[in-house]
Formats: sequence, structure tokens, C-alpha cells
Amino acid sequence: MKSAVQLVVVGSSNTDLVLPCPRLPRPGETLLGGELARYPGGKGANQAVAAARAGARVDFVGGRGDDDFGAAAAAGLRAEGIGVRHFRVYPRAPSGVAVILLGGRERQNQIVVARSANDAITPAAIRAARAVLARADAVVAQLEIPLPAVQEAARLAKATGVPLILNPAPARALPASLYRLVDTLVPNEHEARLLSGQRDPARAARALRRRGCRRVVVTLGARGALVSDEKGERTWPAVRVRPVDTVGAGDCFTAWLAVGLAEGLDLDAATHRALRAAALAVTRAGAQPGMPWRSEVAP
Ligand code: RIB
Repeated sequence: MKSAVQLVVVGSSNTDLVLPCPRLPRPGETLLGGELARYPGGKGANQAVAAARAGARVDFVGGRGDDDFGAAAAAGLRAEGIGVRHFRVYPRAPSGVAVILLGGRERQNQIVVARSANDAITPAAIRAARAVLARADAVVAQLEIPLPAVQEAARLAKATGVPLILNPAPARALPASLYRLVDTLVPNEHEARLLSGQRDPARAARALRRRGCRRVVVTLGARGALVSDEKGERTWPAVRVRPVDTVGAGDCFTAWLAVGLAEGLDLDAATHRALRAAALAVTRAGAQPGMPWRSEVAP
């Protein structure tokens, strides 16, 4: 096992404005909530922080505005030891913001992400980071930035023989060519269903593998995760915890899975460790502040 693997995370950065409520509201309904909280978030930046705390050396490739939220996001990543040379400033766009409701006993979330500098990231900006991509042990991406930028990262990763871990969130239809560039696809149940048209996670995973990705791990929330590779499908249970904040749990899982695979763990062992990490993350408030440290998720 290498001591510190090198990851590149290509993706979004947001400031999360989180409002706890007794339960999630129905359309047209007004509820009285708790106190509004502000945390660093964004699927890409969350995964970068989770991977850094898991022990990887991480570079973040993303975009932000020339404003206070963006400056705070960059400072936060830097403080985690993450390389931000390719976290570009797009002066004409605001930094990313996500409005999040967190409600009910299971602390489920509803998230709306504002249009922002995340949407300004171009394939050229990804190409500018090709030297760090080529040196990486794994590239991790999600779908909160424009698809052409994700495709470019996937293309560069494939060309340099670096495995791509794609968390297809938020879900959207993907071009057939992208699946063939993915080493490990990590959708949640909803995303797996939307991408494959299959309700059952095992069928969905098989259908997605037939499109060309080598392996699929479907996260099942409190039920754990289903893994699918050439050996077939297995479901591993989640660690039972009392949830405080589920925002970023999927990001935590994806990052720990990527670090585990980059360190040479097999898919099942990497999944077990990622499930332990994600369970810890849901017991803590805030996407990035809640990411666990390696010493807490031993070994
Ligand atoms: O996956 C959770 C993240 O989704 C939040 O941090 C929010 O910013 C949105 O990007």
C-alpha cells in the first residue's frame, strides 16, 4: 500500500445555507424551521476535503467567483492541504451557493444549487490541469459542473491511464461514450434508477456496467451499498448511527471509496471503509466540517 495516494477532484464548490426543519415541507407549505447555518460545501469540494482527511494528497479543479464566498471556499480547501492552483476565479460569475433543507427523524435533505461559477468551467480549464491529472492515482468527478468539462476530465484520465471514479450527481442523462471512460460509477439509488431505467439497484448496476463502466457501487443510504463487478453483486450494510446531518454523506463515501481503491484495496474492502466513514459524517453537522479523519475510520 502506498502511504499517500494522489487524487485529483474535478467538480463544484458551494457555500451551503442549511435550514433545519421538523420535516421537509410539501409544495405550497410554510414551516417554521431552526437556525440557518452556513457551511462550506459543493460535491467536488466536499469530496476533496473527505479525500484529504482520508490521507490522500489532493488537487481540486473547479471554479469560483471573485467574492467573499469564493475566497472563503478557497481558504478552507487550502487549510485542508488541498492544492487549489486549478480552482479558478471566474470574475463575472458568483461563487456557488446551495440552499438546503434538512428535516425529519432521518435528517433527509432537499438541495437546490444556484447557477454560478461552477457552470463556467470549460474543457479548456480542465486541459490546463492536465499535468496534475496525469500524475494522479485516481480522478474523481461529479455532475455539478458542465458535462463537457467532466467529459474532458474523463478523456484525459483515460488517455493517461488514470482510473476515473464518477459520482453521477445530480443525475442527468449521460452520453454513451462517457460510460466507457469510467472505472467506478458511484450513483445513489435514485441516480442509478434515473440513469438505467431500472428500479432494482442490482439490475440498475448491471445495466450500467453493460454500458461500459468497469464497476458500479450504488449507495443505499441507511441500508448500505451494493457493489457490482465482474464477480456479480453484493450488498454491504451501513453502520447504524443516529443521523444529525446527511448532507455530504454520499460525497464522503465516494471520496473514501476512491482513496481505498487508489491505495490498492479491493472493491469490497474499499466499500466497507467508505461506509464506516460515511456513517461518521452523518453524525456531524456541515458537509465539509463533518468529514471524518483517517484516524477515526481505522484501518
Ligand atoms: O452533496 C452535498 C452537496 O450538494 C452540498 O454540499 C451542496 O453544496 C450540493 O452541492
